[in-house]
Amino acid sequence: MSSTVCGRRVTARCDTDIRVEPSMTQAKRHIHVNAFNMNCVGHIHHGLWTHPRDQSTQFQTLEYWTNIARVLEKGLFDGIFIADVIGYYDVYQDGVDLTLREAIQLPVNNPWLVVSAMAAVTKHIGFGLTATVGAHNPYAFARDVTTLDQLTNGRIGWNIVTGYVESGARGLGQAGLAEHDSRYDRAEDFLALAYKLWEGSWEDDAVVTDRARRIHTRPEKVHPVKHEGPFYRANAIHMSAPSPQRTPVLFQAGTSPRGLQFAGQHAEGIFIGARTPEAAREASRKLRQAAVNAGRRPDDIKIYAGLAVVAGHTETEAQDKYAEYLSHASSEGGLAHFAASTGVDFAKYSLDEPIPYAAGNAMQSAAQAAQQQGWTTRRKLQEQFALGSRYQTIVGNATQVADEMERWIDVGEIDGFNLTRIVVPETWEDFANIVVPELQNRGRYRTRYEQATLRQQLFGRGDRLPTNHIGASVRHAVRLPEP
Ligand SMILES: Cc1cc2nc3c(=O)[nH]c(=O)nc-3n(C[C@H](O)[C@H](O)[C@H](O)COP(=O)(O)O)c2cc1C
Repeated sequence: MSSTVCGRRVTARCDTDIRVEPSMTQAKRHIHVNAFNMNCVGHIHHGLWTHPRDQSTQFQTLEYWTNIARVLEKGLFDGIFIADVIGYYDVYQDGVDLTLREAIQLPVNNPWLVVSAMAAVTKHIGFGLTATVGAHNPYAFARDVTTLDQLTNGRIGWNIVTGYVESGARGLGQAGLAEHDSRYDRAEDFLALAYKLWEGSWEDDAVVTDRARRIHTRPEKVHPVKHEGPFYRANAIHMSAPSPQRTPVLFQAGTSPRGLQFAGQHAEGIFIGARTPEAAREASRKLRQAAVNAGRRPDDIKIYAGLAVVAGHTETEAQDKYAEYLSHASSEGGLAHFAASTGVDFAKYSLDEPIPYAAGNAMQSAAQAAQQQGWTTRRKLQEQFALGSRYQTIVGNATQVADEMERWIDVGEIDGFNLTRIVVPETWEDFANIVVPELQNRGRYRTRYEQATLRQQLFGRGDRLPTNHIGASVRHAVRLPEP
């Protein structure tokens, strides 16, 4: 089997081997870039909120969000990817004190509620929005998503997460965080119902808005959805008429064995936390194989790595800026964040004591990455988290940053990046002003937007889920006559 991904030929030789080969005949594909943010002060680079130019403490204002939206659209970004966590980080030092003092993703507000304002001042940027399955009911949530997809003309994506912090489960009134793999089982059932609502309940020509005949919606074109799953039940029609994309673009993050299987079946965009292009390639091959195993094509998914960029007009300017940023960073804040991701309280270990990581109940991919990278002691972790985070950082002038980004794309066999913010919105402004022109000169970045939904913008194959996606299979199922 053979097809094309990112200007490269993808060859699936057997179930466990997908190779992506550079193709001399293919034009270079654009690098997909999202701004990575969260509705909070400290997101990834902890401590940087103390930088005098950083605006993240303004996150409760609409102006903060509309300004970011304008910056990103001016920089021709694909969109903004907004993380979210239900709960807070109380693993490190067995409490929440450092989390509160350093504003480590707390306070944290709802990412979905800032989108209408950003959409109102832009026409093109997409919105990848995180929602935790266990915190929502699929019937009500499906309507929220449809509403926003309508208001934005089809620019909505959903980052499906299964939750990983105990404090969130406690807050939701659960006895504790559900077992790792069963959280994915719940997500499967959630989606099974949501697909029926989004894809099957209303036919495209249901709404006619015929004033003369007094028919807004043709009743015979609207179908009840029946669902009896292990976690959810419903017997009702979807409350909203179809939005441009029907199902939002589906994003996912989490590459444990169960996470991979879930991603292969459902995800159209996958966010990985790889630290090197080689680690990205390993994840990318596994993910594309998982898509093939689910009857999809390797290029039916876009893979994004998290990345930090410090760009300067000259190398010296970039290095100086980096040194200045470092002086505001909190590597201990990075440690506290990572403690919650892995479920390990690093404070219990002395600086050079080996840390035993295990596939626990938090993020298995985080524990895997720590082992892979040899982050085996607190000292090593703190060295890695110098900029307050675990993310790979590129520091340099336009040529250096573009070279390194291309290397990640080509060696890592990925499609793009979620670009973290070090100083908001300076990081993204610098990227737009300094790096984007260089990537454009190389044919690696768009020079203008097309008027399109997020799905069309990403894949160029239409607004709706492709027919080989599991969600498309229920399009007609719910319209069958009653037995
Ligand atoms: C790069 C990356 C980003 C993630 N972002 C979020 C997030 O914003 N909110 C959240 O609740 N979980 C987030 N997760 C957690 C996963 O979505 C998933 O629920 C959890 O990690 C289990 O994944 P696993 O399959 O790696 O164990 C993220 C995971 C990774 C690897």
